[in-house]
Amino acid sequence: MGHFIYIHVPFCEQRCTYCDFYTVTSPGDAARRADAWLELVAREMALWIAAGDLDPAEPVETVFLGGGTPSRASAAGIGRLLDAVRAEFALSALAEITLETQPGTADAEKIAALLAAGVNRFSVGVQTFQPALLAQTGRLHSADDSRRLLETLQRQTAASNATYAIDLISCWPGQTPDQWRKDLREAAAWGADHISVYELTYHAGTAMRRRLDAGEIEPPNEDWRIEIFDETANFLTAQGFEHYEISNFARPGRRSRHNENYWRLGNYVGWGAGAHSFLFPRRFVNENSAEAYQRSIAAGRLFRREIPQPDPHLTAVENLQMALRLVDGVDMDWFADRYGCDVRETRAAQFRALLEEGLLTQNGPVVRLSRAGRLRFDSLIEYLL
Ligand SMILES: C[S@@+](CC[C@H](N)C(=O)[O-])C[C@H]1O[C@@H](n2cnc3c(N)ncnc32)[C@H](O)[C@@H]1O
Ligand code: SF4
Repeated sequence: MGHFIYIHVPFCEQRCTYCDFYTVTSPGDAARRADAWLELVAREMALWIAAGDLDPAEPVETVFLGGGTPSRASAAGIGRLLDAVRAEFALSALAEITLETQPGTADAEKIAALLAAGVNRFSVGVQTFQPALLAQTGRLHSADDSRRLLETLQRQTAASNATYAIDLISCWPGQTPDQWRKDLREAAAWGADHISVYELTYHAGTAMRRRLDAGEIEPPNEDWRIEIFDETANFLTAQGFEHYEISNFARPGRRSRHNENYWRLGNYVGWGAGAHSFLFPRRFVNENSAEAYQRSIAAGRLFRREIPQPDPHLTAVENLQMALRLVDGVDMDWFADRYGCDVRETRAAQFRALLEEGLLTQNGPVVRLSRAGRLRFDSLIEYLL
């Protein structure tokens, strides 16, 4: 099977206006704290191994450093962590090692050091190249910072198998069709192998949500949302990208192996406060508290808490929600066997209605989302709950 490892580095210099991830805002100090954090993560790894839950004979398939802003950590700090992983497991050059990289946090010298340390996939949080839209995000970088980073990655990964990905957010308040087309075209032109396009979500507790609730901003209407979705899919597909997940596009052979494992319901471990783990059928969470995490790991105690799953139907739908996102669909016979719950039977009327309305399609036991199903995914899942 191999190991799929997520590492959460929850420090940012400033909180973006739309963000509800677990992060600790640490102005002027995020780099130092990220380095110290990676040392704790290495200790957490040792505790997991001592608990007997990870077989050291199995190779590491992927490591994903996310956040927060893991790219604030030094290349040396990230290198030390990868060395610690290498000391415990086989970590071959074929493993996918991703670093979420924020523009403005890595120059050419740092990228070279990260490549030498073994990072081979850089996921760049561009969000938008339009200065007028970037201004409402609270991000600390400019569009030109994004361009500088992408230019560096383009140059420095050209001679290797290393790759880079771009994250964009669509449906900003006030975004014009022309601004979106420019973002899409520029992202494709930078030669990234992978582009993620997320529609802006107004999470509770964020500055964006407060502005929305106060009537200060207006999101794009439903027609424009649908147009953006279709235009994005049509444009990127025509550029040679595969639309392999609702929000994700990859050049052939360049899907995110790490994220694909989530959607295939594979096992993974998550280290750092705010990270989740799945060792079928058990789920664990490291709570959102950097201080409590630090205390626990420093005292040699695992921080994870097992998440109870008392309702088999709810567990099945939650997992289906993950698996359906992938274009390949879900083999419902396999799924029913694995979760001991057949949603085709527990929600027979709803399931039939989704097929009749054309939101789901069925081919033998394999069920897939249609285009309409992708557009109304959240309500589709709610309907099955
Ligand atoms: C785990 S997040 C954080 C990545 C990194 N900290 C950064 O800001 O670049 C990964 C991606 O999710 C997307 N994202 C985060 N918050 C979002 C929101 N409220 N709505 C839509 N997309 C969001 C962004 O594209 C972001 O790059
Ligand atoms: S940099 Fe990323 S994780 Fe940090 S506040 Fe901004 S969106 Fe959230």
